[in-house]
Amino acid sequence: MLALSLLLSAALAAASNGPHRVHHAECSKVSFDVSASGDNAVFATLPDRQNETAVIGWINDRFGDLGAPAAGTQHISGTYKIAGVYCWPTRGPSRGVLELLVHGLSYNKSMWTGLGYGNEYDWQAYAASRGYHTLAIDRLGHGSSEPNSDPFNTVQVPLQIDIYHQLIRAIRKGGRTSPLRRSFCRIVWVGHSFGSQFGSAMAQQYPNDFQAIVLTAYSNQLNTSSPPGAPYASASVLFPKRYRGADLGYFVTSTLQGRTAAFYAGDYDPAVAYGDYLYQDTMSAGEIGTFLDAAPRSIPEYRGGVMVVSGDRDAICCNIQGVTCNSILSGTSVVFPNAADYGFYAPPNTGHDLTLHLTAPSTFREVHNWLDSYFHHR
Ligand SMILES: *[C@@H]1O[C@H](CO)[C@@H](O)[C@H](O)[C@H]1NC(C)=O
Ligand SMILES: *[C@@H]1O[C@H](CO)[C@@H](O)[C@H](O)[C@H]1NC(C)=O
Ligand SMILES: *[C@@H]1O[C@H](CO)[C@@H](O)[C@H](O)[C@H]1NC(C)=O
Repeated sequence: MLALSLLLSAALAAASNGPHRVHHAECSKVSFDVSASGDNAVFATLPDRQNETAVIGWINDRFGDLGAPAAGTQHISGTYKIAGVYCWPTRGPSRGVLELLVHGLSYNKSMWTGLGYGNEYDWQAYAASRGYHTLAIDRLGHGSSEPNSDPFNTVQVPLQIDIYHQLIRAIRKGGRTSPLRRSFCRIVWVGHSFGSQFGSAMAQQYPNDFQAIVLTAYSNQLNTSSPPGAPYASASVLFPKRYRGADLGYFVTSTLQGRTAAFYAGDYDPAVAYGDYLYQDTMSAGEIGTFLDAAPRSIPEYRGGVMVVSGDRDAICCNIQGVTCNSILSGTSVVFPNAADYGFYAPPNTGHDLTLHLTAPSTFREVHNWLDSYFHHR
């Protein structure tokens, strides 16, 4: 156990040192100062925020009803530091397409490089080998993006939607002051899980922000019979060294068993699932309270390309009795009735965290084959 965690820390340390070279990619840490605002929810009830039992009880109730009754809204605005890792292809033709990689609940940008477990899980290295630029961001309140924000009132869906809209505007504008030192007019939103839900909400509110959207660990038939990864604990209670002093509203999955059952299935390396548990990032109470703001059922205003990719043993997105994953993913096209193109793929023997399973290389290949053909004539 000790040897494993030492090994893991070494791998994570190596992964977080930038700039560094991974095969066809060169990467560097970047950060954007994003001015944004949003009408966040004022929740009708709040727990005693100094009492972990009460906070976790409130969160469990929110998972039960997927959202919290709001007593109104409050306008929140500010300038938020959004951190990321930007990678670009160093060999072969560049396609001039930027993929914006957006993680889900309890992760940060490091999930896109396989949490440091090796190249076979590294989306950014693979994308570069196919000529694509990538920017993996830490969402607000996670990783290095304002981790001290108020997890109840600030780290909610409405404010974050404006933050990513303003971020995309800055990326499009580019220029010498841009952290990317160039502009991009072709952008793909790539989400995982809650990052995909977010993408669908973005596609509804800002249908021209990106030309294509890749929704991984997503479908329109979620199995919500049990809260994903439960039970939960406040991060500062379970991992006092890493999250000392964090507000109790930042929470984590508290058992290895609960986390693995929700996020892994079939063909995966148990060491990855273990490291994933031990080094998990947090979820915020406010995101769960505003979950429904990120789950539109139909988005006729979006006319770009859509690809949906979920593991065929995904306990949350492909787990309806008597219905195959392929037919769930095919049926999810009703969410995007006017999409220019709709593709889907269900990697076999794969759970929710599809890029951390042994099928990750075939997932990367299928997604980039689809992107190649989508952008071929555009
Ligand atoms: C903390 O909250 C729980 C659940 O609401 C309650 O039963 C308990 O009495 C509270 N503890 C304190 C010290 O207030
Ligand atoms: C991001 O996630 C990784 C892996 O899960 C973790 O080791 C790291 O501490 C997190 N980064 C920050 C800044 O919290
Ligand atoms: C949701 O998942 C649970 C546990 O795997 C299963 O028992 C239940 O039948 C699933 N729900 C549906 C609607 O199929």
